[in-house]
Amino acid sequence: MESLQHLEAQLLEALKDIKTDAALNDIKAQYVGKKGHLAAAMQTMKTLPAEERPAFGQAVNALKTVLLNHLDSHQKALNEAAMMARLEQEVIDVTLPGVPFEQGSKHILSQIIERIEDLFIGMGYLIKEGPEVESDLYNFEKLNLPADHPARDMQDSFYIDEHTLLRTHTSPVQVRTMLAYGGEKPVKIICPGKVYRRDDDDATHSHQFMQIEGLVVDEKTSMSDLKGTLLEVARTMFGADREIRLRPSYFPFTEPSVEVDVSCANCEGQGCSICKQTGWIEILGAGMVHDNVLKDAGYDPTKYQGFAFGMGVERIAMLAYKIEDIRHFYTNDQRFLTQFKDDQGGLEE
Ligand code: PHE
Repeated sequence: MESLQHLEAQLLEALKDIKTDAALNDIKAQYVGKKGHLAAAMQTMKTLPAEERPAFGQAVNALKTVLLNHLDSHQKALNEAAMMARLEQEVIDVTLPGVPFEQGSKHILSQIIERIEDLFIGMGYLIKEGPEVESDLYNFEKLNLPADHPARDMQDSFYIDEHTLLRTHTSPVQVRTMLAYGGEKPVKIICPGKVYRRDDDDATHSHQFMQIEGLVVDEKTSMSDLKGTLLEVARTMFGADREIRLRPSYFPFTEPSVEVDVSCANCEGQGCSICKQTGWIEILGAGMVHDNVLKDAGYDPTKYQGFAFGMGVERIAMLAYKIEDIRHFYTNDQRFLTQFKDDQGGLEE
């Protein structure tokens, strides 16, 4: 009985040094395990006189409850300490400086397209898009370019099968729109998008590039409407002081056709290396829509006229920013792209 009374004090003393679950398990086995102190005490019961045994048995059982309680609360204390240690380790310091995050920006070609779109939306145009894989019918035939027409060579094409190709310009979107309008409604659209031509890539040629074409069909449209519209484009992209001039040219889908030059912003028209000493730089092709094109799209050419124009976005960008190689647009070199971040010399609004 006496040694029983010491066991509780001994356990409490031993627990003071116990810092791990493993050590606690050992102590537990030593006191309340099958071969532990309490089990040994039970063994000694046999040696006691019969009348003392019940009281001794009760004392051992009561002590067992007490010891188990101590062990249990020590386990809880260990768990709590472990949790606190983990929380301390995992603490997030919200005052630490953040990791700088490189912000992307719109590609320069997208910036230019959006700028031109904004200009035309302001003039009441709709933006129309169409498929890049196009049928010969819309890309050529309905644009006054029947099979075997020599002018098809002006735009060397990637054919997919006999009647299907990668569009060589966005003019087929204009054809599709006129057909959809059924020869009745006036048309006022621009068509931005990717186009493809069989070209050997070099500093000024790419087999894939971006175009913006425009089309107006109405009962009263004239060459002077076309000129006024294109002057706006030139001034938006190259500065408020620019002038334009129209030179006669040839496109199968327009008659008359013109090529449009903008006065050189670099030398103010005096002549420099950029404008090849002429004072003028060619920026787009345009003209009055050919009667055959109107007819094929269901419009009566005695009632309706139209004008159309088409420009290469890369060319505009190269001139506006003095970019010397068209391939820069496609190779995704950060040193090139970041120059046109909105906050680093990109187009101002
Ligand atoms: N479709 C012509 C081209 O891609 C551009 C153009 C459009 C010319 C409209 C005149 C009128 O070359």
